[in-house]
Amino acid sequence: MQESNNLDKLAKLLKNKKLIVALQRPSYSYNKVYNGKIKYEKSAGGVHLLFDALLKKTGGTMIARSSGNADKLIIDKENSLKIPPKKGDYKLKLIFLKKKEVENFYYGFANQTLWPLCHNVFVKPIFHQSWWDTYLQVNQKFAQSILEEIKEKNDFKNTVIWVNDYHLALLPKFLKEKNKELKVGVFWHIPWPTYEIFRICPWRKELLEGLLSSDFIAFHRSYHVANFIQCATRDLGVITDSEPTLIIFKDLKTKIGNLPAGIDYEEIKSQMRKKVSKKIIKKDFGFDYKKLILSVDRIDYTKGIIERLNIIDFFFQKYPQYIEEVTFLMIGAPSRTHIPAYKKLSHEINDLVEKINWRYSTSNWQPIHFINQTIDRKKIISYYQLADICFVTPLDDGMNLVAKEYVIACNPKNGMLILSQFAGAAKDLTEAILINPYEVEKSADALTYTLNMPSSEKLKRNKIMKSKIKENDIFKWAYEFLKNLV
Ligand code: G6P
Repeated sequence: MQESNNLDKLAKLLKNKKLIVALQRPSYSYNKVYNGKIKYEKSAGGVHLLFDALLKKTGGTMIARSSGNADKLIIDKENSLKIPPKKGDYKLKLIFLKKKEVENFYYGFANQTLWPLCHNVFVKPIFHQSWWDTYLQVNQKFAQSILEEIKEKNDFKNTVIWVNDYHLALLPKFLKEKNKELKVGVFWHIPWPTYEIFRICPWRKELLEGLLSSDFIAFHRSYHVANFIQCATRDLGVITDSEPTLIIFKDLKTKIGNLPAGIDYEEIKSQMRKKVSKKIIKKDFGFDYKKLILSVDRIDYTKGIIERLNIIDFFFQKYPQYIEEVTFLMIGAPSRTHIPAYKKLSHEINDLVEKINWRYSTSNWQPIHFINQTIDRKKIISYYQLADICFVTPLDDGMNLVAKEYVIACNPKNGMLILSQFAGAAKDLTEAILINPYEVEKSADALTYTLNMPSSEKLKRNKIMKSKIKENDIFKWAYEFLKNLV
């Protein structure tokens, strides 16, 4: 079986090694509920799912910032707990930040400076010295928390540290300053911008130097690698060497590469229902439908939700024969809601949904059902199984794992993915219907084309995509990353 081959290879690689994964948000958080009980929640977002799936199989430690109001009541003396709650496959160690730190680090530098800087969606990044200062302090806290885990001198050689994403760019530097023997790799899950964009950041050299303290840096796609090399060359005057690509800066050599993330194929398979029926949608959302078009994302301006709604509007205008025939189920998990740009987006989405629903509704049908909440993963997988189309429209996206999950879970004779060409996943899923979400008319045509695609054609396309996803699963991805550090 594919999974066991990839997983076996990974297990062998990690034998006698201690794996520590650092990321901003933990896979689980605990919250108080109304009757005094404590409930845990699994975090939404592809990156957490990846590392939860991975560590469940490999064991190890995840270090992340606490995000639940009852976390403190659950942890042990070392701020740790076992995950998943009853099984305890891996250890989760939490870092507790003060409110001001969360504001400046997470809502500030990470999500109002770096996030818009790295995504090419024309939202201006905001630069504040105090956000940057806190970003440094929080990265220091992560370093300290990781170093506490390395108790014996010998452990420095045997520990592999996997740093994730734009929240922790300085962490490699702080770790290496303590001990050069530590092996540190960074996976940057979001895009890396071109130099013309990156150069506006006042702390760009510090960010590059922080990252270039690691042994290995990976991105999902080669065009992000190329952008990163261009920025490092122009800002730091680094020397590059190819085969494998190396960046040489001061006395440091950092390997750099592109590794498109895979998903846990078997886990999705195991969560799928044997039988699915349209009744699930009726029960969960109270509507019947003839054809169902699904989308699942966080409410984020990079996801192209406004553009998607414009396409839906145009689709019903140009093809009124689909009124009452096609229903859109849009699941949007609230995200980063204290940030003004996200608040504004949320209002715009609500307004547009209301406008489109008013324009095309009939007495017993409405075109869009917008569910503005986080939905249980098992349920999402059953909606994937039912949906005739999954409509994924990011304006810029490092990878997009929803696209891959849908292809695995959908009915291969019936389901088809429509995917923005600006998602990293579009390079892997070339048999999907690829669109430019800014092109409203052509994208509406793509919807009708897909609705009319014969089953045999869907089956052919899905078969190819499924086998690519199965072969390049999460364990292969993790193996390819970690082999650069072991
Ligand atoms: C993206 C980022 C992740 C992030 C996730 C959810 O996928 O690459 O690092 O965790 O969004 O965002 P949040 O701000 O809720 O952690």
